[in-house]
Amino acid sequence: MVAAVARKRFLQQSPDVSAFEADVLEGLHETPKHVPAKYFYDAAGSQLFERITELPEYYPTRCEMKMLRDHAADIAKLIPQGAALVEFGSGSSKKARILLRAAPKLAAYVPVDICREMIEQEAAELRPDFPQLKVLPVTADICKPFDLPHEAKVAPARIGFFPGSTIGNFEPHEASAFLRNAANILGPGAALIIGVDLIKPAEVLNAAYNDAAGVTARFNLNLLTRINRELGGTFRLNTFEHHAFYNRERHRVEMHLASLKRQKVKVAGETIDFRIGETIHTENSYKYSVESLSALARGVGWLSAGAWIDERKYFSIQAFTFAG
Ligand code: AVJ
Repeated sequence: MVAAVARKRFLQQSPDVSAFEADVLEGLHETPKHVPAKYFYDAAGSQLFERITELPEYYPTRCEMKMLRDHAADIAKLIPQGAALVEFGSGSSKKARILLRAAPKLAAYVPVDICREMIEQEAAELRPDFPQLKVLPVTADICKPFDLPHEAKVAPARIGFFPGSTIGNFEPHEASAFLRNAANILGPGAALIIGVDLIKPAEVLNAAYNDAAGVTARFNLNLLTRINRELGGTFRLNTFEHHAFYNRERHRVEMHLASLKRQKVKVAGETIDFRIGETIHTENSYKYSVESLSALARGVGWLSAGAWIDERKYFSIQAFTFAG
């Protein structure tokens, strides 16, 4: 009783913890079971993701960084004098640095992320390197409406930046809602630069999400470690297995955690039953073509303003302007 009251008070004070608990419980009670991919990124998960980006099989990060470097001057042509660059889900700002260097005409850089410490830290590291730039971090959920800082609002234009193929984690209808929300936030005269992973042979995709060193498996399984720690879960990690495969019909890589046995697991005081082989669907990573993404964007008013593709046709950087 006392514990229940204390717990309730704790949850009221910590909306992040209660959202995590509510989302996990809801997803584990549904059939098929699922947990939103955004919960991969606790401290350990973020570190594992950094290691993924360096794996020989995981091409997207290297490919996108090279493309940003190779085409920085062309991409910068989309950025008017005095504009503000608004990065959605900025994380480490490593990719933004390339654009900031190529576009000294930018007056402001607004990294937006739910993790406050992360963007404050990055902002502190960016400022000395770009003394003429206003670095104005915003703590917000990029899928919801949020206010831009005054300096960004009064800038002659706002350019959105959404690298990393993060858009691939959204269902197509969520991707289109994100694009609509971005247009509302950026306002008239906006442009948007998005990094998008392309549809490609299944062998390449399957290798990228099943690396030989097993880092992606650890990244996936870390979700159970996080549930155990933060939600009092009783998952035994050696009874679950990483499954990742390209679903050709739906143009997406799916990641799952498959139960190796029939078992019961407790999460936040509730019991979850697993059949042998039953999975928790932990991530979708949608792949697009230049045409399929631009059609989605056009549907909510963004017009194609340029697209860059590497020679292997693995990754794209796509630019849009808002028609109003
Ligand atoms: C960060 C969403 C782009 O989908 O490729 C990497 C996450 N998952 N390996 C992706 C991820 C497994 C990544 N994104």
